[in-house]
Amino acid sequence: MQLDGVSLKSLARKHGTPLYVYSAKTIRERYRRLVRAVSWRDSLVCYALKANSNRAVCALLADEGAGADIVSGGELIRAGRAGFHPSKIVFSGVGKTRDEMAAALRRKILAFHVESGEELAALESVAKRLKTRAPFSIRVNPGVKADTHHHITTGTVENKFGVEAPEAAALYERALRSRWLAPVGVQCHLGSQIVDPAPYGKALDHLLGLVDRIEGKGANLRYLDIGGGMGIPYASGKTMNLERFAGTLTRRLVGRPLTLVIEPGRWLVGPAGVLLTEVLYRKKTTARRFVVVDAGMNDLLRPALYGAAHTIAAVTPRRGRRVRFDLVGPVCETADRFVHGLEMVEPEPGDLLAIGEAGAYGFSMSSTYNSRPRPAELLVDGGRARLIRRRERLDDLVRDER
Ligand code: LLP
Repeated sequence: MQLDGVSLKSLARKHGTPLYVYSAKTIRERYRRLVRAVSWRDSLVCYALKANSNRAVCALLADEGAGADIVSGGELIRAGRAGFHPSKIVFSGVGKTRDEMAAALRRKILAFHVESGEELAALESVAKRLKTRAPFSIRVNPGVKADTHHHITTGTVENKFGVEAPEAAALYERALRSRWLAPVGVQCHLGSQIVDPAPYGKALDHLLGLVDRIEGKGANLRYLDIGGGMGIPYASGKTMNLERFAGTLTRRLVGRPLTLVIEPGRWLVGPAGVLLTEVLYRKKTTARRFVVVDAGMNDLLRPALYGAAHTIAAVTPRRGRRVRFDLVGPVCETADRFVHGLEMVEPEPGDLLAIGEAGAYGFSMSSTYNSRPRPAELLVDGGRARLIRRRERLDDLVRDER
């Protein structure tokens, strides 16, 4: 098995496993495809750094002209180092601290996405202290349910995210009277791994209703940010049809002088990565067969946390009888399982497996649980693999302890 002409087996032999490998070509192609799909109107793609915040991956997208969607002071620093222009950075999240606000104001980012009245008051006081105006959009909770895992749905009134429209309108009115606040747009985010464009259409209608209402009060909004969340094919194969997604949005914006902002994370980088892992042992109980690999839930949390079904492939396929087994990791948790009842030719110790769709929310959600150093990351570009993060060492784990 190869990734853009580079043998995955040779990479695993050279760098060890577990190992994240990303394709620069896939990331560039996906970014360009997305930009093309929405290109007939003024638009900006802000990459959600949380999906994969490795500097080299981010730099690739910054070079393509992407903006960034950040959620912390840490991501602000990463975005700067990767080369995203501050005028294309938006700052999301329900719990920004005053220090984080000040840092982002000093850098002159495009907009804060404000999620409550108290946050808006905090932003105003920080802006006043720095004698500057804070550009912001209210993150609206549109009350739209998107069909996805309950842990990653965000746009309903049961969720902590955003502000409902009547309160949002009142916040804009309040801001219009402030010297220190500049309303520049409106934002929402429905959730993640959404494969149906319809909820985006509903949410957009909802936001446009609000835009009309507050423009009547004297606001002049320039950005309409519909968030991220577009789904990719995992093992189930279901995926967002990009052209239908783009059509759903752009159709509704005809004749409106608004820049469309989207904040994809997974869609851009998810399909571009694999996690390589080596088979350690096989075992059986009277009920089940197990194959134990050297990657665990600390390296790739999604299956344990969301029951996510990533594709699994043998790096060097074997011939033989297919069997059914559970693919599990070494962590001391029953949830440390990549697949329940995987059917394939049984691999043998020393075989390499590639866990697919690992470019998004893979390394970025990894931890050192069970004192397991985190994997190395490689970026394949132009037929060559570059180490973009060295494997963590045991020393790294204890270095700051006293
Ligand atoms: N914008 C905002 C405000 C967000 O909260 C998120 C993701 C995104 C954009 C990007 O969403 P994407 O396009 O990547 O779906 N850890 C979960 C996903 C959590 C997403 C949280 N917010 C997973 O592994 O599925």
